[in-house]
Amino acid sequence: MSRIDVAFTPAASDEASVAVVIDVLRATTTITYALAQGYERVLACGEIEQARELARRINGGAVLAGERECVKPDGFDLGNSPREFEGPALGTTLVIATTNGTRAIVTASAHAETVAIGSLANLTSCASRVARAARDAGGDVLVQCAGVEGEFTMDDAYTAGRYVFELGVWLSEWELTDAARAAEAIARGYESASDGLGASKSARNLRDANLVEDVRFCARESTLDVVPMVADVDAGVALITVAPAR
Ligand code: MLT
Repeated sequence: MSRIDVAFTPAASDEASVAVVIDVLRATTTITYALAQGYERVLACGEIEQARELARRINGGAVLAGERECVKPDGFDLGNSPREFEGPALGTTLVIATTNGTRAIVTASAHAETVAIGSLANLTSCASRVARAARDAGGDVLVQCAGVEGEFTMDDAYTAGRYVFELGVWLSEWELTDAARAAEAIARGYESASDGLGASKSARNLRDANLVEDVRFCARESTLDVVPMVADVDAGVALITVAPAR
């Protein structure tokens, strides 16, 4: 029987037909807003220098975004706040490097044929798209949390639980693993997304960086229909585009 599973950390990742990667605070939320804003493609990688080099090599140039310790690196155009991706896009290609989220995307792409980028912002549209892909493939779904520096974090676990619930609506015959049931129980334990996200280490890091407004912003649910998908991965860089409408 096909399964819906959750990996709470990148090390717990497993093979699946379809994966949805979650770094709700903030990388996967930011990537979703960037594509909604009008960027045609996002190139996600783990290293700051790699991102700089990539942006230099792109014909016509690229917008460079990312963070270290929640803060925009020197010389980057933008940080990693989804609030920076409202209004007109600054270009067509975004290169982004973050501490956990972009790495988790690259890692998940080695374990699954189809990889979607999930957040609360695209909860409804992303879950239904992932469910359809799993049904087409007749295979397992993995909800992959990015965590923080390899460790469990509550914001991603909460969001994973919300995804398990949504996926279960579409894939009622799929079996839930114990990890998926645990994520659902975590999500049920909070009255609101703000509470679930607010209880995490990621939120504490953002508060310490005077970015508490990002926690509120990332807790907003199903504000976008955009479903970012990994189209290709090469040399540690994931090419992410919007899934075509079906
Ligand atoms: C990450 O990828 O580690 C996060 O998105 C960090 C952040 O909030 O900027």
